[in-house]
Amino acid sequence: MSTRQILRRQFRAASIASRVSAGSMASAVAGVLLFAAPLSAQTAAQPGVTFTKDVAPILQRSCVTCHRPGQSAPMSLRTYEDVRPWARSIKTRVSAREMPPWHIDRNVGIQEFKNNLALPDADIATIARWVDAGAPRGNPADMPPQREFSSGDEWAIGKPDLVVRFPAYHVPAAGPDLFPTIVAPTGLTEDRYIKAIETRPVGINSRRVVHHAITTMVSGGGDGAPLSPDADGANAQFIVEYASGKAPEVYPENSGVLLKAGSSLSLGNHLHSVGEEIDAQVEVGFQLYPKGVTPKYIRYSTHHGDPTPNANDSLDIPAGSVARVDGYTLHTKPGKIIAWQPHMHIRGKYQCLELIYPGNPSNVMKRETINCANWDYNWHSVYNYQDHVAPLVPAGTVIHIVSWHDNTAANRNNPDPQNWVGYGDRTIDEMGFSWIGWIDLTPEEYEKEMADRAANRNKPPTATQQQQQQQQ
Ligand code: HEC
Repeated sequence: MSTRQILRRQFRAASIASRVSAGSMASAVAGVLLFAAPLSAQTAAQPGVTFTKDVAPILQRSCVTCHRPGQSAPMSLRTYEDVRPWARSIKTRVSAREMPPWHIDRNVGIQEFKNNLALPDADIATIARWVDAGAPRGNPADMPPQREFSSGDEWAIGKPDLVVRFPAYHVPAAGPDLFPTIVAPTGLTEDRYIKAIETRPVGINSRRVVHHAITTMVSGGGDGAPLSPDADGANAQFIVEYASGKAPEVYPENSGVLLKAGSSLSLGNHLHSVGEEIDAQVEVGFQLYPKGVTPKYIRYSTHHGDPTPNANDSLDIPAGSVARVDGYTLHTKPGKIIAWQPHMHIRGKYQCLELIYPGNPSNVMKRETINCANWDYNWHSVYNYQDHVAPLVPAGTVIHIVSWHDNTAANRNNPDPQNWVGYGDRTIDEMGFSWIGWIDLTPEEYEKEMADRAANRNKPPTATQQQQQQQQ
């Protein structure tokens, strides 16, 4: 038996002892440490990591939102009994930073986000130490009360002011991917501005087949006749994209998206058969500004950096290779980027958002990489910037999106590394662009924000910023 196995046994014994008496825990651990020469200094310095005292609070804060019955994750992580069989897998996933799902590259660009799910290094170390010590339960009296959630069915944005539910669409047990366009009236009789928005498949079965859903606002169409859902069309405005695993969108204070009186929503749905007949249904919930209130800033969310120079033909991914594609979008007006959401399909690997600023007097282009993110097709995450770091974009800036696709066998999602892949709507075809949440600024507003930020740069962070940083 190795020293490690012996230690694990000892720790288990310690955790059983602790159920009898909390005090005996410390002495049992101390006893182990006395003869445990090979134990690393780090572990030795922090004896007695237990589930109830150290690990449960982390899981409650960062995991049970999804890992509880009736939610998207495959298993519950609420109690010691739930968690114990998964201990190894948990260590692997959190150490690789695959869980919680947060794929921003931590070594590049901005790290302050409103919806940051990443675990702090200290929490990952605690989980690893706990697993290495044999995953002891610890003193039941240390167990924090279970976090309360209202019901399995609540909206993450809170109670919506308006819910638009689209008619159900039948998905056969087997067949090619389906791309229906489904229309439903908003029922609004006056213009309203959206504060927060959440798209969700209705019920567990719909969640299994809805790959993504793009909601566009169309004028008219309430009679069921769909207008063109082209986001750039004169009569259509892109509202929101849902994709599996996506969190809701909450717009920054004083900003919103217009939802017009008499408009309808057009849903570009992408459905995937799963071996069982399912009637898939999607609904969109809105929180709205009060009647008659127009927010100061209007938010857009648009496609950026679609592949160039030959549009989608530029997506050229030979069998067995990792290919790069670049896309560029020119912005003639100043503005602010408030959210970034990479979009690729199953061969997606990594994407970067870069700004190429207009030429300065020495005519040298200045480039700045704003962020890069790993891509996991299970997770279409939107990264919402904290207000004080949301990238400011001067007029004349080119937004540059770089996407890498992995068409090798090393990509565990790759269904067929033997084949060339190009652009297409199907999951097994590719895309490479970003949705960017954007606010236009006047030149004066842009100058003022730049000056304010420069003035604040050397000031100590505010209480809220400090708090947000501690949570990261
Ligand atoms: C936003 C929802 C969400 C959060 C938050 C989340 N998970 Fe997950 N987790 C999932 C889903 C969905 C899956 C299955 C799909 C996948 O693997 O990506 C999963 C898979 C896993 C797996 C692999 C399970 C298997 O079948 O092998 C582990 C382990 C895991 N999560 C641990 C954690 C831990 C630990 C945390 C918190 C530190 C966490 N997760 C936070 C949704 C979440």
